Amino acid sequence: MAAENSQNSNVPKYLRKVELTQENKQLIATLPCDTFWQPLTIHQYNGFWHTTKQLQGILNSQKHFIARDSDIIIVTLPKSGTTWLKALAYAILNRKIHYPNPNLHKNQCHPHPLVTANPHDLVPFLDINLYIHKNIPDLCSFPSPRLFASHMPYISLPESVKQSTCKIVYLCRNPKDMFTSLWHFIRKLLPQAQEPRSVEESFERFCEGRSACGPFWDHILGYHKQSLERPNKVMFLTYEELKSEPVRVLKDLAEFIGHGFTEEEESGNVINDIMKLCSFENLSNLEVNKTGKLLTGEENNIYFRRGDIGDGENFLTFDMIEKLNAITQEKLGLHGVNF
Ligand code: A3P
Repeated sequence: MAAENSQNSNVPKYLRKVELTQENKQLIATLPCDTFWQPLTIHQYNGFWHTTKQLQGILNSQKHFIARDSDIIIVTLPKSGTTWLKALAYAILNRKIHYPNPNLHKNQCHPHPLVTANPHDLVPFLDINLYIHKNIPDLCSFPSPRLFASHMPYISLPESVKQSTCKIVYLCRNPKDMFTSLWHFIRKLLPQAQEPRSVEESFERFCEGRSACGPFWDHILGYHKQSLERPNKVMFLTYEELKSEPVRVLKDLAEFIGHGFTEEEESGNVINDIMKLCSFENLSNLEVNKTGKLLTGEENNIYFRRGDIGDGENFLTFDMIEKLNAITQEKLGLHGVNF
């Protein structure tokens, strides 16, 4: 036991095994499983692949999370720009108490929370954070409207999220850049001595849907369908449109979550101030994001790499690009999802 503990202490906190509840253990034992990147096992639940930790978080939140009508939930596939959207939504919601441009409000006695904390510590995930270790986490400290995040596919969301009038903001990204970002992220996440799975093998698995929260295309379609059927409930965004039309998207986003900008704010440059505060350049150069760690133990800097569009075209081979384009066209083309 002592050897087991000391072994465990050499493993970064975020890669340590989670203690499953008896009920979850029994269910998970019945599911198809595979390895994602050693030492992470993935399980297929509701048609999607999840690490053991995330699955415990999904199952616990399905049982215990009670959504409020005023909640806002950001949903993404990993590496689709979650950190950015968390920062933007947080800045929009809190702009009256934390002005996004400190130079204009010099009497603000504290720095903006996004200057001293990583967006992931300000906007926690239900599934890979709050509900992993506790069935009923303490959510009292979250003022309304509560802002949470999740990587869950639509089918697995807690029933109260689907039934209430809470808002879901879904963000996705083109699969070439997302896969490239994910491969680099996992490499940084693994202990130094451990080689990540080769790009080729990881790519084949990604195409088969055996990736974090995959299949990529099904995850997107689940939310896209909801955004068409219930446009007041689910907002569907892409990383690419956020890059190319930030002002339009920010205005729509603020409106959608019930905190639209006033004319005075628009003419006072508030939208630009929020964009600047949450920009890749600003966030990635903050001391907290260069040297700090998340409450969950990961280094903050692994959430910032290049922050642009098109890196997949440099990283993947011609054949890989062709294959991914063809699958994406086949699965998403007819539904009008374009990146
Ligand atoms: P790259 O690896 O392509 O650079 P997530 O936040 O979902 O984990 O996604 C991480 C990706 O978003 C990384 O992409 C990261 O660099 C990029 N990113 C992080 N913060 C960003 C920001 N403020 N603006 C634009 N992209 C950002």
